[in-house]
Amino acid sequence: MKVLFLSHLLCFSFPLFASLLASINSGMQMFSAHAFNPFVLNPENDGGSSVFWKRGSPQAPNNYTPSVVDCPSTKPSIRNASQLSQNETSWLYIRRNNTIGPLRDLLVRSNITGFDVNNYINNVSRNGSLLPNIGIAVSGGGYRALMNGAGAVAAFDNRTAHSTSKGELGGLLQASTYIAGLSGGSWLVGSLYANNLSTIQSILNTKPATSSLWQFENSVIKGPSTLSASQYWGGMARDVKDKEQAGYNTTITDYWGRGLSYQLVNTSDGGVAYTYSSIADDPFLKAGNAPLPIIIADERPPGQLLIPGNATIFEFNPWEMGTFDPTTFAFSPVRYVGSNFSGGSLAVNGSCVRGYDNIGFVMGTSSSLFNQAFLTLNASSGPSQPVANAISNILQNIGENNQDIAAWPNPFYHYANDTNQNAQTTLLTLVDGGEDLQNIPLHPLIQPLRHVDVIFAIDSSADTDTKWPNGTSLVATYQRSQNSALENGTGFPSIPDQNTFLNLGLNSRPTFFGCNASNLTSPSPLIVYIPNSPYSYLSNVSTFQLSYNNTERNAIVQNGYDVATMGNGTQDAQWPTCVGCAILARSFNHTGTAVPSACVQCFQKFCWDGTVNSSTPAPYEPTLAVKRSAAKPIEPSST
Ligand SMILES: *[C@@H]1O[C@H](CO)[C@@H](O)[C@H](O)[C@H]1NC(C)=O
Ligand SMILES: *[C@@H]1O[C@H](CO)[C@@H](O)[C@H](O)[C@H]1NC(C)=O
Ligand SMILES: *[C@@H]1O[C@H](CO)[C@@H](O)[C@H](O)[C@H]1NC(C)=O
Ligand SMILES: *[C@@H]1O[C@H](CO)[C@@H](O)[C@H](O)[C@H]1NC(C)=O
Ligand SMILES: *[C@@H]1O[C@H](CO)[C@@H](O)[C@H](O)[C@H]1NC(C)=O
Ligand SMILES: *[C@@H]1O[C@H](CO)[C@@H](O)[C@H](O)[C@H]1NC(C)=O
Ligand SMILES: *[C@@H]1O[C@H](CO)[C@@H](O)[C@H](O)[C@H]1NC(C)=O
Ligand SMILES: *[C@@H]1O[C@H](CO)[C@@H](O)[C@H](O)[C@H]1NC(C)=O
Ligand SMILES: *[C@@H]1O[C@H](CO)[C@@H](O)[C@H](O)[C@H]1NC(C)=O
Ligand SMILES: *[C@@H]1O[C@H](CO)[C@@H](O)[C@H](O)[C@H]1NC(C)=O
Ligand SMILES: *[C@@H]1O[C@H](CO)[C@@H](O)[C@H](O)[C@H]1NC(C)=O
Ligand SMILES: *[C@@H]1O[C@H](CO)[C@@H](O)[C@H](O)[C@H]1NC(C)=O
Repeated sequence: MKVLFLSHLLCFSFPLFASLLASINSGMQMFSAHAFNPFVLNPENDGGSSVFWKRGSPQAPNNYTPSVVDCPSTKPSIRNASQLSQNETSWLYIRRNNTIGPLRDLLVRSNITGFDVNNYINNVSRNGSLLPNIGIAVSGGGYRALMNGAGAVAAFDNRTAHSTSKGELGGLLQASTYIAGLSGGSWLVGSLYANNLSTIQSILNTKPATSSLWQFENSVIKGPSTLSASQYWGGMARDVKDKEQAGYNTTITDYWGRGLSYQLVNTSDGGVAYTYSSIADDPFLKAGNAPLPIIIADERPPGQLLIPGNATIFEFNPWEMGTFDPTTFAFSPVRYVGSNFSGGSLAVNGSCVRGYDNIGFVMGTSSSLFNQAFLTLNASSGPSQPVANAISNILQNIGENNQDIAAWPNPFYHYANDTNQNAQTTLLTLVDGGEDLQNIPLHPLIQPLRHVDVIFAIDSSADTDTKWPNGTSLVATYQRSQNSALENGTGFPSIPDQNTFLNLGLNSRPTFFGCNASNLTSPSPLIVYIPNSPYSYLSNVSTFQLSYNNTERNAIVQNGYDVATMGNGTQDAQWPTCVGCAILARSFNHTGTAVPSACVQCFQKFCWDGTVNSSTPAPYEPTLAVKRSAAKPIEPSST
């Protein structure tokens, strides 16, 4: 099958397209009526005073269009994936050290009776490999995943007001080494790093009059309130056309990424020149003051079906784009991805290209499934006139082809011909990171080279008929870890089937997998599975709901906060202690430390013990766990 690129579609008028889209947008809101609970996360704090992280920056030489620049003295080249990059290795040296203080604070607060935190941390700090190494993974699931994930990040961020009080988990973010995002989760991760890593609180407090940041009531189809539909769509069309005229393939993902940027990068031009690689130059990242952000996407060659579980998974970190999978097993410098690499290097007089890694395009690549948002427009019962028909024709044309791919120049062309499945193609076609059913971005965090000990896996998937998670993502990652052609040294704990998740309630409260390291066939992090569930709000909104007012947005974030903290420990007073135990579990093993009895109790309570019950479960219809009648909203953000 041939890839259809948008050049084939440029014959239609974008301003017209835009106004058509806008006019039917109101018909798109697929709300279901849910009980409403206001958002009560820290009304006093605006987060502004404690913001100390700086943002990604507009480094692209020519806005959205990749452009030739002078090469650095050491020409960029491709490397194999047998090691971490030099950049990551030297960064880890700084970052791991900086996690010690926050980790110590968090563990002290987690109140593990009879365990001397200071003594323990002092001892393990001398040997980096014994110090707990924490990763956070934020799943896909559209805006639901962005918002639920944001609640978890707010809970883990010690700058969120009250997050370091009794029962809370503030500081886990500061103690983490990695944070990975996929699809809707990549919007969260990308947006945070493009915006100072400012607090969730301060982002929610953004005044709609001053910025379109996280103003989801104006959907990505409609655009920000400050722009007319033709300004918005016309501007995006120009950006994409310029890239195309410079000789690069574009697809509908380019539009999707540009649109996302208006909501997720806090600039009036939709962050047109913001690159993913610019994050590497940010003082806060260089100083090791935040976890390393990683965004992932799946590969799906043109015309091929993606076989769940065996797609090659590509990652974008601030220095590199590439994969540890044996099917390509190589990394390229993400800053120079548009350059003409062949056989692993540039031609002798080959030029360097920068600007391909627009941050919106990276987020759009990870979430390219949402291109279907354009396609579902005609499904919504908008206007039935010729207008709708015209759109429907355009969209169907796109839909019949590979509408959901992102086109990347293949930096691995003619590289490692014998083992690299992509050695003979100039184009790398990437799709939504969740298309292989691994909706939680665990892949970069289970790489043995990264030595992660524990992953906090935030699952906002809509698996059940009622749109709550049922463990499908963990099952998929487990199955892939059993595929000897692909696993390449990655280990993963045993995961039961989805019926068991429901029958044992493993999806309605946090569950630990892989507690017993000696039961693993290859080393794997402990997985702290944190499934979305209703505490203060029924946050099981549709993945394809693209528009939210700020009240609902805040309520879903608050619910995510409650999910991560188990309602500040109100659902289980031991939870903060057990989080501390999960962080320490592998380190206890490595150091041969006897597990404190408080942790033994935690593991009895939260670890999956191997029990399986695969009988057909009853329909999953959970109700709110926490009632809040007099809760104060965090506003004012809707004024
Ligand atoms: C990554 O490391 C290389 C060489 O080790 C260095 O030249 C380059 O500047 C580093 N990149 C960043 C963004 O720090
Ligand atoms: C480790 O971190 C501490 C506290 O942030 C700092 O004082 C110290 O200089 C760091 N050491 C190294 C080797 O980076
Ligand atoms: C959060 O953690 C950082 C890193 O340890 C620390 O510098 C800062 O003081 C903490 N902030 C709060 C509000 O506890
Ligand atoms: C710490 O845990 C002990 C035993 O579970 C409990 O009695 C005590 O109140 C806890 N302290 C704090 C500050 O939570
Ligand atoms: C994925 O599965 C298909 C069908 O079984 C097979 O043809 C293909 O080679 C597999 N790819 C990988 C990378 O294992
Ligand atoms: C991973 O795959 C690469 C490329 O095929 C291979 O060289 C390497 O040995 C593999 N690593 C492990 C641990 O299997
Ligand atoms: C555009 O895609 C085609 C395949 O459809 C490929 O042959 C060509 O090399 C790509 N161009 C660039 C600049 O990546
Ligand atoms: C890789 O394959 C291409 C095309 O077949 C060939 O031109 C190139 O020389 C090969 N590279 C190596 C190192 O064998
Ligand atoms: C679990 O979710 C998958 C979709 O991810 C669905 O196909 C399956 O029916 C669900 N099973 C149960 C028991 O909910
Ligand atoms: C916001 O959206 C929710 C959910 O659709 C709805 O119930 C509520 O009335 C809306 N609030 C405002 C102020 O529009
Ligand atoms: C959690 O604590 C915060 C701050 O103390 C409070 O606003 C919120 O209502 C608490 N949540 C629950 C579920 O008790
Ligand atoms: C222990 O390993 C066996 C064999 O892989 C597996 O069947 C079992 O579920 C594992 N138990 C736990 C608790 O993970």
